[in-house]
Amino acid sequence: MRSETPVAVQLKDYQAPDYFIERTVLDFDLYDDHSTVTAELTVLRNSDKGSDLPPLVLDGQELELLSVSIDGQELPSSAYQVSDNHLTLQPQTKRFVLRTQVRIHPESNTALEGLYRSGKMFCTQCEAEGFRKITYYLDRPDVMSAFTTTVRADKQRFPVLLSNGNPVAQGEEGARHWATWEDPFKKPAYLFALVAGDLWCVEDSFTTMSQREVALRIYVEPENLGKVQHAMDSLKKSMKWDEEVYGREYDLDIFMIVAVSDFNMGAMENKGLNIFNSSCVLASPETATDAAHQRVEAVVAHEYFHNWSGNRVTCRDWFQLSLKEGFTVFRDAEFSADMNSRTVKRIEDVVFLRTNQFAEDAGPMAHPIRPDSYIEISNFYTLTVYEKGSEVVRMLRTLLGADGFRKGSDLYFERHDGQAVTCDDFIKAMEDANGADLSQFKRWYSQAGTPRLAVSSYYDKASAEYTLTFQQSCPATPGQSEKLPFVIPVQMALLSADGEHLPLQLKGEDSAQGCERVLAVSEAEQSFTFVGIEAEPLPSLLRSFSAPVKMSVEYSREQLLALMQHDSDGFNRWEAAQQLQLAILNGLIAAVQAGKTLKSDPQLAEVFAGLLADSSLDQAMLAEMLSLPSEALLAELAEVADVEAIHQAREFLRKALAQALYAPMWQRYQALRAQSREQAYAADAEQIARRSLQGKLLAYLMLTEKTEVKAACVEQFEQAHNMTERLNALACLVNSSFAAEKAQALAQFAEHFKDDALVMDQWFSVQAGSVCPGTLNQVKALMQHPAFSFKNPNKIRALIGGFCAQNPIHFHAADGEGYRFLADQVIALNALNPQIASRLLTPLTRWRKYAPARQAQMRAELERIRASGGLSKDVFEVVSKSLA
Ligand code: PHE
Ligand code: ZN
Repeated sequence: MRSETPVAVQLKDYQAPDYFIERTVLDFDLYDDHSTVTAELTVLRNSDKGSDLPPLVLDGQELELLSVSIDGQELPSSAYQVSDNHLTLQPQTKRFVLRTQVRIHPESNTALEGLYRSGKMFCTQCEAEGFRKITYYLDRPDVMSAFTTTVRADKQRFPVLLSNGNPVAQGEEGARHWATWEDPFKKPAYLFALVAGDLWCVEDSFTTMSQREVALRIYVEPENLGKVQHAMDSLKKSMKWDEEVYGREYDLDIFMIVAVSDFNMGAMENKGLNIFNSSCVLASPETATDAAHQRVEAVVAHEYFHNWSGNRVTCRDWFQLSLKEGFTVFRDAEFSADMNSRTVKRIEDVVFLRTNQFAEDAGPMAHPIRPDSYIEISNFYTLTVYEKGSEVVRMLRTLLGADGFRKGSDLYFERHDGQAVTCDDFIKAMEDANGADLSQFKRWYSQAGTPRLAVSSYYDKASAEYTLTFQQSCPATPGQSEKLPFVIPVQMALLSADGEHLPLQLKGEDSAQGCERVLAVSEAEQSFTFVGIEAEPLPSLLRSFSAPVKMSVEYSREQLLALMQHDSDGFNRWEAAQQLQLAILNGLIAAVQAGKTLKSDPQLAEVFAGLLADSSLDQAMLAEMLSLPSEALLAELAEVADVEAIHQAREFLRKALAQALYAPMWQRYQALRAQSREQAYAADAEQIARRSLQGKLLAYLMLTEKTEVKAACVEQFEQAHNMTERLNALACLVNSSFAAEKAQALAQFAEHFKDDALVMDQWFSVQAGSVCPGTLNQVKALMQHPAFSFKNPNKIRALIGGFCAQNPIHFHAADGEGYRFLADQVIALNALNPQIASRLLTPLTRWRKYAPARQAQMRAELERIRASGGLSKDVFEVVSKSLA
């Protein structure tokens, strides 16, 4: 832990490196109480920077330096300086081989960065700056090197020794053995990986578009071999999709995935050797929900796609993180849309963005997708860089068209293969391939905050002209008080009274150009006039959520109902339903605040009844339409989030709907459950849709507290042949007042799954999210449960994160106990795992959203963390920016 105040790194200070590392030869000797790392680096002066020889400053942290030599000559300790973060020496020639040997302690590495132990195995995590905890190096992404790695360990306990690239040699030395791997592709150190363990693998192969055979291996601990098939299928689908959609072929002869239990993030795209959080690889019908299956598919695809968008073409510096992450999230989202229901995928992503990224953009950590400065880069693996970054790439495709976008990505990959580049290079390739000028569009990379887009319309019957006027603005964010107008692509259509989509001809055009088009709004205020419009139309705007903005349009309830029925854009049909629900919920929230008795609005129940009766409606869509906006989204949308009023209003509406629609819901539920019983589980779109609807209905029905529903819920919990139905039923029981059934179900579940860590995570989360009284005490008690561990990030996320981030009514309890609890956990975790500590803090950073009393309590806890001493850079940055 540090004592001095950490300093921020600035994008504007970027300088190319003084030296490059052409070749990197590593040798790891792994033991239980220490490991040694020998590195032979072929260092070369960057000739672009001159012919003098400045000092070579290598990064290194928590390394015990054993020896240093240059070109075979051992250096005396007077010839170099070692500090907490660097090894500095004076080169005598412009090219030389530097050899260092260090001792490190993976066995006591709880930060899970660098080389560490997860259970019995050794593994690494080097992005962003973890390699410097392994050996002295130029640990920056614009230094790319060819790696050869030898790993040595005990033969019996670590039969599998892996690193990047292809295996080239192996051998034995008594009780120990070794393996050497060679990666022919130059890469930055953040893509380095090593694994040693008693691992088993499922093996398959893929024939690439140029007929090369690639061996595919997924390594897991032996007890998990039965849970790998879904990930393997997902991998093969991803490889095929990237060939078909982006023309990208895999390059090495082998592609490996390793599942580890202790991992700070979802997964990591190390060249040829992806390392995954086991939660993003393992899935079986009995142990993983549909959502978990879809997450595995998406993360496997995401990491695989990085082989081109990230590895072959990488980032020049960490300010460019969205270059690889935003683009790759966009790629994986499109992949998932092609594999499953496109509309549902879009709805899920937009709900997530609006609930979480919009909140980040409105808070103290708001930053552009390409930040200008950071104290700790780990804090910038954010929803803004990832999800908003993906939205920005999506807007590019919307503006350039699918073909233009593909030409741009082809040029980008071709032009920059093997290079470390910037977001500007990406945009330049898109411009050059399309003859486009994207200079104003680039403001999306430099300006933070969620733009507002207000829309008004004017219809002139006499001239048959219809004018849409857009006004855009963007709220101030830290360090950015004034914003310039963005380029906002508004995908749109105009509907006639009977739901026809009208031909769209702008004033000045010779003819209509289809019934859907994209308006590029680029000025603070801008109007578009359509001609030949015989009667006032109903506009369908921002279709498929074509830009990450907050749009306001004044629709009447009738208009929303018409959009729900007739809009040919599935996303906008759902959006109309959301807007109707929001209007009703906001009315109820105001009524709670005014102390009025709540009255149910019959309109929504009528709409839902119609939807339930419509047998032609896609079940996935129906499930989405029946989902009310979450409390978290309502809080984000509110000027001041009134936690209790939001909770009461929403619970009131849910109960009212359940009572009004009991008969059709109960009938539909039973039919769906009967189908589930008869069919073998498959994680396909149709079945996922069915279970999703079934789950939504059960949750509504349970609010009626009817005995027949309780019995059905217990039946589903006990008899379901898959985790989706079982967990849905468990969640309903946990949130109900049926104390006996709840206790029994929880006990039964824990008994059955006690040895399955990932299932126990779900058991912790369900309880952490309970709306019933006493949840915080229950969470505290569960921290003592044998399946819980403070050192395992998945456990922290499930239980502590589940409570603080997914349970607003209890986290924001008026007595401040929720805040105190979170601060205590952050203080304890700060020393153990700074990245997890810092992420956990997010809910406290949102204090400005709440009324003064809560603000004071939340700030007081942030102050307490700040004063607790010995803060990691990670926690320091978030706390100090939140209190600024
Ligand atoms: N680069 C990883 C991804 O695919 C995320 C990650 C970042 C993992 C840092 C570990 C550490 O998004
Ligand atoms: Zn990624």
